[in-house]
Amino acid sequence: HSEPEPAERRYRDLCRGGSGLHRQPHDAESARSAIRLPILIQEEAARGGRFSETPMEKREELYAGKAKSVYRTDNPERFVLVFRDDTSAFDGEKKEQLNRKGMVNNKFNAFIMEKLEAAGVPTHFEGLLSSTESLVKKLDMIPVECVVRNVSAGSLCSRLGVAEGQELNPPTYELFLKNDALHDPMVNESLAVSFGWAAADELEQMKSLTYRVNDVLKALFDEAGMLLVDYKLEFGRCEGKIVLGDEFSPDGCRIWDKETRKKMDKDRFRQGLGDVIETYEEVGRRLGIQFD
Ligand code: TMP
Ligand code: ASP
Repeated sequence: HSEPEPAERRYRDLCRGGSGLHRQPHDAESARSAIRLPILIQEEAARGGRFSETPMEKREELYAGKAKSVYRTDNPERFVLVFRDDTSAFDGEKKEQLNRKGMVNNKFNAFIMEKLEAAGVPTHFEGLLSSTESLVKKLDMIPVECVVRNVSAGSLCSRLGVAEGQELNPPTYELFLKNDALHDPMVNESLAVSFGWAAADELEQMKSLTYRVNDVLKALFDEAGMLLVDYKLEFGRCEGKIVLGDEFSPDGCRIWDKETRKKMDKDRFRQGLGDVIETYEEVGRRLGIQFD
């Protein structure tokens, strides 16, 4: 068993959220200028070659969402995702900066995406670039959010007048149109096909992948003493395939402690419960994620 090549070792470190790469922290000044980021080309490994290091340029900001920004790179098929400390709820009505959130969610997302990829769910995640940046595949995003619920909470309770905390067996599956101005209205497959948001076979794949994610993550959280209450996924198209995009972090799911039912997700922010990021880090630590 020989020592891996330095580049390969570094790649593994990056994926583990380790110390493989150090750059100046992200700031407005560096955001404006192109930054050269060393990255390792996975495709080469797939072709049977060794990991090699190729400089990559982070170029202009393409899009800024409520919590993440997307940057172009010199590779048209790759984007840099920057996780910011900005936190929003109620479609941007409540906004705050939460220290360390970008770093925590970036590393949390990297850990989960790798678990999902290993379980056969294709994802856009390519690797960590820094504590708040990840390299991702460019996807043609589908503007529909897929939500699975194992336990009643959130909009399900307000919409149907049911009590929070009821087990949902089988888990429910809902679609929402990604549209803040309309407050992400609930839609269905028929509407999605008629309006051309996605084809019927794509919606089928999204549904089965969303349920596969549930099998993987429900077990993962359960083993760490937590309950995966619900979550939202977004998908896109890449080379004719449906691929999981966006992020998986405590911002886009609900997680409760199995014993005490303490809320450990963005509901802490929505409901003003305090210790938001401290609790996200506790979730991560229980899963075995190292922050800093
Ligand atoms: P809901 O109870 O508000 O419908 O949300 C269900 C789950 O999906 C919850 O974990 C939060 C997540 N979600 C988002 O992260 N963003 C969204 O825009 C929507 C509609 C849901
Ligand atoms: N992420 C959405 C927002 O920022 C919805 C929410 O989490 O409440 O408004």
